[in-house]
Amino acid sequence: MRAPRFIDVEAPGAVAPAAEAIAGLQARPARLPPKFFYDALGSRLFDAITELAEYYPPRTEAAIFAAHLEPMRAAVRARLGESITLIDLGAGNSEKAERLFAPLAVARYVAVDISTAYLRHSLQRLQQRWPDLDIVGVGLDFAPALALPAEVTSRPALLFYPGSSIGNFAPEAALRLLHQMHAACAGGALLIGVDVVKPVEVLEPAYDDALGVTACFNLNMLRHVNHLIGADFDVRDWRHVAFFDRAASRIEMHLEARRALAVRWPGGERRFEAGERIHTEDSYKWRREDFEALLRQAGFRGIRVWHDAQAWFAVMLAEV
Ligand code: AVJ
Repeated sequence: MRAPRFIDVEAPGAVAPAAEAIAGLQARPARLPPKFFYDALGSRLFDAITELAEYYPPRTEAAIFAAHLEPMRAAVRARLGESITLIDLGAGNSEKAERLFAPLAVARYVAVDISTAYLRHSLQRLQQRWPDLDIVGVGLDFAPALALPAEVTSRPALLFYPGSSIGNFAPEAALRLLHQMHAACAGGALLIGVDVVKPVEVLEPAYDDALGVTACFNLNMLRHVNHLIGADFDVRDWRHVAFFDRAASRIEMHLEARRALAVRWPGGERRFEAGERIHTEDSYKWRREDFEALLRQAGFRGIRVWHDAQAWFAVMLAEV
């Protein structure tokens, strides 16, 4: 049996997480980036979100893959041939990628996530199920720049970016990231999942569910930040706020102070008025044709689109 290899990338211009959190808390309005959702508990809470009836993206995307696997397989094979390299951006537990290993005859699997510490456990287990697969774990926060190691991009690959994670990026930043994907992937292709604009009656409950799991997921960021910078956030002082901004075509998530309070950490503090908010996430919803145009603007060609019957979600395959 092979063993996974791990590469940690020191991204140029990356800011240390603690400094980024403090800068965000001192900004007006305050903001904390969505990557701070995903500590150990936050990753489990996100997994719980994917089980909720209100949170339609995972099951809708999975249904699209299941229903259209054969034409996807044919298109990827036509582009990349018999033994392909799959580069999974934001791999997490690798569950979505693993479903493609057999149909796409994946020979090399590159799992990119924010830290190799998180990948280590899941990739070791994955190797046991796929003993002949060449597995590489890359620890990289690619939000500032997609600085993939050269050995990973030296042969044509299929970049895989499912789950509408691209929705966390504002249109200009999404275009920049797509440009970098295009540059990293000569002779290859991108397979991407994109969430689509739909009635607000569907969108808002997906981010403010009846059970309150998304509220926990949002509030948990404060615990993570306490740990990160030694702050004294009391989650009881905050409430979850989520709404769809139609003009910007995005769900916004915030944490709102229930009373006037101060948050302290070694070397600093930030006062909040009652009702003042910390902006924690944007989740952009695209019109299909607008996202196709964005892909073309980033240099991609031969774009194919698959969607579910309600057109709630789209999976696109784009050639470099
Ligand atoms: C992981 C960014 C795709 O925007 O739907 C889920 C994160 N936030 N519920 C999304 C999320 C609240 C999710 N993405």
